Amino acid sequence: MDLSRLFQDHIATMTKRASATLAETGFDALVLGAGTQMVYYADDMEPPFRSNPHFASFCPLKGPHHAIVVKPGSKPRLIRWAPKDYWYERAPFAADFWTSGFEIDEADTAEGVFKKTGALGRAAFVGDDTAGAAAAGLTLNPEALIKRMDWDRAIKTAYEVECLSRATVAGAKGHTAAREAFLAGQSELAIHHAFVKGAGCTDDALPYPTIVCLDAKAAILHYHAKRATGSGRLLLLDAGVSDLGYGCDITRTSAAPACDPKFKALIEAVDKLQLELCAMVKPGPSYIDIHLEAHRKIGAVLVGQGILKCSLEATIEKGYTSVFFPHGVGHHLGIQVHDIGGRQKAREGGVLPPPPGHPYLRNTRVMETGHVFTIEPGIYFVEMLLEPFRGSQDFNWPLIDQLAPYGGIRVEDNVLVTAHGHRNLTREHLPN
Ligand code: GLY
Ligand code: MN
Ligand code: MN
Repeated sequence: MDLSRLFQDHIATMTKRASATLAETGFDALVLGAGTQMVYYADDMEPPFRSNPHFASFCPLKGPHHAIVVKPGSKPRLIRWAPKDYWYERAPFAADFWTSGFEIDEADTAEGVFKKTGALGRAAFVGDDTAGAAAAGLTLNPEALIKRMDWDRAIKTAYEVECLSRATVAGAKGHTAAREAFLAGQSELAIHHAFVKGAGCTDDALPYPTIVCLDAKAAILHYHAKRATGSGRLLLLDAGVSDLGYGCDITRTSAAPACDPKFKALIEAVDKLQLELCAMVKPGPSYIDIHLEAHRKIGAVLVGQGILKCSLEATIEKGYTSVFFPHGVGHHLGIQVHDIGGRQKAREGGVLPPPPGHPYLRNTRVMETGHVFTIEPGIYFVEMLLEPFRGSQDFNWPLIDQLAPYGGIRVEDNVLVTAHGHRNLTREHLPN
């Protein structure tokens, strides 16, 4: 794919969207700040820098203090922060596939960057350097403008889809290497190292810390300790990679030969129902439909495999599926792992709450062409959630206690809504 052609269209779309938003909200110009570098309290150490996602959606330039100025009718300007400094690598500016999209200027201080924004009339600032922006006379983070930008960001351009696809190529290589390390009996830490090596990236390029779970640890949704030594019988790996600021978010659950065949059957069932849920993706219906269908399908598996002894109707009515599937079926994806705007009601703002009993569902929007989100159903054996039902005859406790040492299952793909259906960005590179 020719990134430079894709980027030309991308920046044209972004500028057009921003111009419409400025007109609707009464501003003459928009200044996007890349962000300031956080320093840990009472320390001189810094966490890895992450750009303001609104800045990152316009331009892949890394690092703090840069600013983009959008004025309707003009080419966007990028004012690059280029400090005089010998502590860090400060590569001189070099032309890249995206640079022709901007008029580019430089300043060697954060104040200098604001000074170079020039006279802009009534200008809105979006970013965290509110002191610098206020001193420059900009209107700070106006909500009406940000809501529209959040909404628009859910519709990915072809360039953004290509970035996600490139991230997926690396993520798939990482997953393949990690699965091999697991099957070779390696530890959670060694599996993490295999993922990073296979993906060919540093830890800074991970959109979120890897979740590497052997056996019972798979019941901890966001387990990060990497403590377990090897010889696991089950691996749940939730790991992604970023490319040009866009990250994939992929989960696979794999069984070693020593895994209980009943648990293996459960993994196969979740994989099958996950693909059926992906097949529901198309423009028009609400994403909530997919979440509720996930509950019905998971209920059918729990009853079908004898984990629950009551009927499917009773399982749904009594909310038993939430005991085994206690998170949302997915979320928007892009620059942020949980990309913004998933519960927004309209371009102007407002909230579309999740249905009662489903507080963790992060996407409640109607599916539209260009949305990218995850589909990530799971079945887990979480003792804290099972414990209140220990006296119930509806649960097959001997079987549950037999399966619980394997922790849980999640299968997660990243899916693009297309004009007539969907494109599964993950299975293209990681079929299973
Ligand atoms: N990796 C975090 C999530 O799946 O939402
Ligand atoms: Mn996810
Ligand atoms: Mn994930």
